[in-house]
Amino acid sequence: MSGGESHPEPLVGPVVLIGPPGAGKSTVGALAARRLGLPFLDLDDEIARAAGSSVDELFVAEGETSFRVREAAALHAALDGRNVVIAAGAGVVDAAPNRTALARAHVIWLDVDDDTALLRLAGARPWLPADREEQRTAYRLREARRRALRATLAAARVDGRAAPDVAAAALSDVVAALPLPVAEWRGDALAEPRVVERAAAEPSGLVAGGLALIDDGVPQAVPGVRLPGGERSKTTAGLERVLRVLHASYGRARARQDAEPIVAVGGGAFLDVVGTAAALWRRGTPWIAVPTTPLAMADAALGGKTALDLDDTKNALGAFHAPDETQLWLGFLASASAVQLADGQAEALKHAWLTGTPLEDKAEPARWVRRSLAIKAGVVARDPRERGLRRALNLGHTVGHALERVHGLSHGEAVRRGLLATLWLSEELLGLDRAVSSWLRPTVAALGPLPPFALDAERAQQALSRDKKGGRFVLLAALGRPVLVTPPAALVPEALAVAARGTELPP
Ligand SMILES: NC(=O)c1ccc[n+]([C@@H]2O[C@H](COP(=O)([O-])OP(=O)(O)OC[C@H]3O[C@@H](n4cnc5c(N)ncnc54)[C@H](O)[C@@H]3O)[C@@H](O)[C@H]2O)c1
Repeated sequence: MSGGESHPEPLVGPVVLIGPPGAGKSTVGALAARRLGLPFLDLDDEIARAAGSSVDELFVAEGETSFRVREAAALHAALDGRNVVIAAGAGVVDAAPNRTALARAHVIWLDVDDDTALLRLAGARPWLPADREEQRTAYRLREARRRALRATLAAARVDGRAAPDVAAAALSDVVAALPLPVAEWRGDALAEPRVVERAAAEPSGLVAGGLALIDDGVPQAVPGVRLPGGERSKTTAGLERVLRVLHASYGRARARQDAEPIVAVGGGAFLDVVGTAAALWRRGTPWIAVPTTPLAMADAALGGKTALDLDDTKNALGAFHAPDETQLWLGFLASASAVQLADGQAEALKHAWLTGTPLEDKAEPARWVRRSLAIKAGVVARDPRERGLRRALNLGHTVGHALERVHGLSHGEAVRRGLLATLWLSEELLGLDRAVSSWLRPTVAALGPLPPFALDAERAQQALSRDKKGGRFVLLAALGRPVLVTPPAALVPEALAVAARGTELPP
């Protein structure tokens, strides 16, 4: 890359290196992080910094139990969704709560055999006198137990016997190719964040309990208070309207305020405005999201980012306030227009590219809605506050949001045009394989025509400069490998132009 722009940051979330003492986790981890353009964090350093003394001193002064408590706290704090390589201590796998916490990270095992480890450790660890036979036997027994635990936790194993730069090269290759985490459907539910699919013939049972607010564009008969939906409701005025309904309703039935959630039934815009109201009402009230459009089902109803637009800035205001539950009822799809389906497919296509596939089942909404929910759930469970990994979900959205606000496009059309700009920038800046982009580009066009329009370049640039992502775009280093990049300013107008040119006709 030429000067000025940042090194691409792989959107992988936290990567934790585990392995025996002496495997080289700190050295190899730091080298690999540098190669990848990721920050590096040594858990022992974090523990020492918090305690104000070295790990060896802590072991001697406080004993192992106290050290393990500190280690668990440091691990927990480190797993906040950032894209970072973390070297953990050999004993981190011993505690069950640590093993549970590691489910929020990609775990990679840097391995060496016992003899190599003991040779490397001789004299290096005061708490592990490697010259005494009984200590060596105890070491081997403990490590045998840990090996079994590491095998269940690790997504990959890297040979730590090689020279550090060789091991670091192997490790960085593994990290760069890590897949996006995807949650697993168990029957008709996802565990975290919670999604439940309802199979009822009618939508009435969806809003049992709680105050139900219904998007007035929902044609199905759902009991509750109907309020305006759509993008034009996603404003401070729309928010006030919802808050006044809550005020009036909760004022009349005070019993409601403690237990019952607000149930929001509607499209993505409606869920955004009601979710924002739920975040503000009594400083945060539980709510349930019931998406009624394909896009809201595939994306907006999950993850707890709520938003309002302000002037020409899309999603300028909002909160992180996750619904307690998302209820999926596919029956709402029956009334979706072709445009609404294409809007939902745009987000499903984004999810598919992020996980390394095109969108082969676009004619089967039940499949791509469920898959999209599982992908989004996997990502937001690891990074609920968008510290790192979750930024991947903005693929196509930086350019898309600017066009959506300035040219009044539907969210889905804006995202599809944003995905075209993403492919172009990824080719220009990251050398995305043209065979891949030529394969993906028609999958955007296949969702519906994107005719060229006259771009208001100045206002689109202004809208881009107000984007919350600070000029950083999610691009694809390869299919399924999202990275964060600050493109050189000179390329941004052309990226907008690519999006505005669109594609004349579906192939
Ligand atoms: N919070 C998030 O994480 C997130 C993620 C993606 C998108 N979004 C937001 O979602 C919005 C787009 O959502 P959308 O595509 O659902 O558009 P939308 O909410 O504007 O809804 C489109 C239209 O469909 C109507 N509608 C609702 N239910 C219907 C049904 N069952 N049948 C027919 N029509 C129905 C609505 O009243 C509206 O007029 C954007 O504002 C976008 O920013 C939010």
